[in-house]
Amino acid sequence: MEITILPLPGESKKSGNMDESALGFGKIFTDRMLLVEWKSDRGWFDARIKPYEPFVLDPSCLVFHYAQEIFEGLKAYKWSDGTITLFRPEMNARRFNLSADRLCMPRIPEEFFVESIMQLVKMEKDWIPTAEGTSLYIRPAMIAVEPVLGVKSSDHFYYFVILSPVGAYYASGFNPVKILVEDRYVRATPGGTGEAKTGGNYASSLIAGVEAKKKGFHQVLWLDGVHHRYVEEVGAMNMFFAYEDCVVTAPLAGSILNGVTRDSVICLADSLGFRVEERPIEINQLLSDIKEGKVKEAFGSGTAAVITPVGILGYKGESLTIGDGGVGRLTRKLYDTLTGIQYGRIPDTFGWLRKIV
Ligand code: COI
Repeated sequence: MEITILPLPGESKKSGNMDESALGFGKIFTDRMLLVEWKSDRGWFDARIKPYEPFVLDPSCLVFHYAQEIFEGLKAYKWSDGTITLFRPEMNARRFNLSADRLCMPRIPEEFFVESIMQLVKMEKDWIPTAEGTSLYIRPAMIAVEPVLGVKSSDHFYYFVILSPVGAYYASGFNPVKILVEDRYVRATPGGTGEAKTGGNYASSLIAGVEAKKKGFHQVLWLDGVHHRYVEEVGAMNMFFAYEDCVVTAPLAGSILNGVTRDSVICLADSLGFRVEERPIEINQLLSDIKEGKVKEAFGSGTAAVITPVGILGYKGESLTIGDGGVGRLTRKLYDTLTGIQYGRIPDTFGWLRKIV
């Protein structure tokens, strides 16, 4: 598919140097975006890189009422020598199409997904921050724009990609967060949309997050939707628990997200000599393992969250400190190795990087 390049109306919004220490997450956006349309009688058409600007959409569009929407998250990194890379973008392309299948939306050719992002990022390369822990967050998304109120799959979609220079996802940076195990609300059930990256999963999780914040926690850890017994994920992160000789994470059984960072952590932990077990984690067993000091470290993984140490786990009014509550050695090692590969400080022996420049 050919991409038309539309000119910017004036100067770049980027005036001089950004304050890279104050970026936060997803608050500012670059000059340009990608937009492609799909109609049931035409397939994909009109791919264009255009100025970043608001959409003009009919208030009756399906996405506003029935949430037919999917998205992805990946990052571009600028190395100290100016090299720019993406990290495993083909995994995002594959997952995007799995989400599209689940939400009854059209698939996008995976090569186009990756190549068009590479082209957009190349045009916006001056926006990629270089300070420690910063990167350019890439947000591809697809929305249903047919203006009709009957419940149906749209016959018109927008696929778009926007870019945001970001720092750490959690304001606390690479420091332990407090996570509350949610025992009332559920995020996903078998046969539901838990495995898809769709906005509705996040909308329905907000109430638990708000209640957790009031209790002093950063986010919630979801338990399975049937028994409320097995650990699933933390919305923005997959979870790992490190024992003396192994690292444990919940299996991909259909209701949690198949995280790109999750998969990378599994490969890295294995290459560091740790046995990685993908198995059901029963919450009461986990809590007693924490109390007995068998769980040495806990951390979450995600594109936005990278690797985030978890210092405290709360459950039913009790707060348990994991290890010494600080950043564990394995967590630090995995963070350093993963970010070392992403920023070109460590050779990419896994073949994960796609070089743009
Ligand atoms: C990501 O890590 O890219 C995510 O999608 C998590 C999030 C900020 C919703």
